[in-house]
Amino acid sequence: MALIFSKSLAFLFCFLVTIHAKNFDQQKKPTMKLKEKMSHFRFYWHDVLGGRNPTAVRVAQAPSTNTSPTAFGLVMMIDDALTAGPEPTSELLGRAQGLYAFASQQEWGLLMAMNFAFVQGKYNGSTISIMGRNPVFDEVREMPVIGGSGLFRFARGYAQARTHSFDLKSGDAIVEYNVVVMHY
Ligand SMILES: *[C@@H]1O[C@H](CO)[C@@H](O)[C@H](O)[C@H]1NC(C)=O
Repeated sequence: MALIFSKSLAFLFCFLVTIHAKNFDQQKKPTMKLKEKMSHFRFYWHDVLGGRNPTAVRVAQAPSTNTSPTAFGLVMMIDDALTAGPEPTSELLGRAQGLYAFASQQEWGLLMAMNFAFVQGKYNGSTISIMGRNPVFDEVREMPVIGGSGLFRFARGYAQARTHSFDLKSGDAIVEYNVVVMHY
């Protein structure tokens, strides 16, 4: 009798362990199916301050901004075109929407906070979010990719910016962006 009882206890124990293991497996499955991949994009960012249709506008500044040698305190809102090539007429891939702010008193150092909103092909509707420091006169500036949406969910990575051209008179700039992003 005692033997039968302990045998059925052992059976019950094995049964419970099996159920538990099964539930554990099922909980893990969705993450197992995700496969992380790395994508590399190159495009050109067009910051247009002059002319009739500027894509970068001044939205705020400090009383001391005008006398600051680094425009400290100035905030610009942007809706800049992202194109496949450096020519403004080349294929539109998306827009860089957000702002940049002059955040350094010692040099030209911007805080960039912008979303790359793509409009082409499978990336149409997906976004990549950038937030970082941009010392604009450095040859290469690196900024973190801090997230994304759509095909870029869980995105992380970095963007490297290189100035392609800068018009001292108008302030217009064309900047090459190379973005390396890990996503699913
Ligand atoms: C991108 O998506 C929008 C909204 O769904 C749609 O109107 C537009 O035609 C799409 N563009 C391309 C190039 O697929």
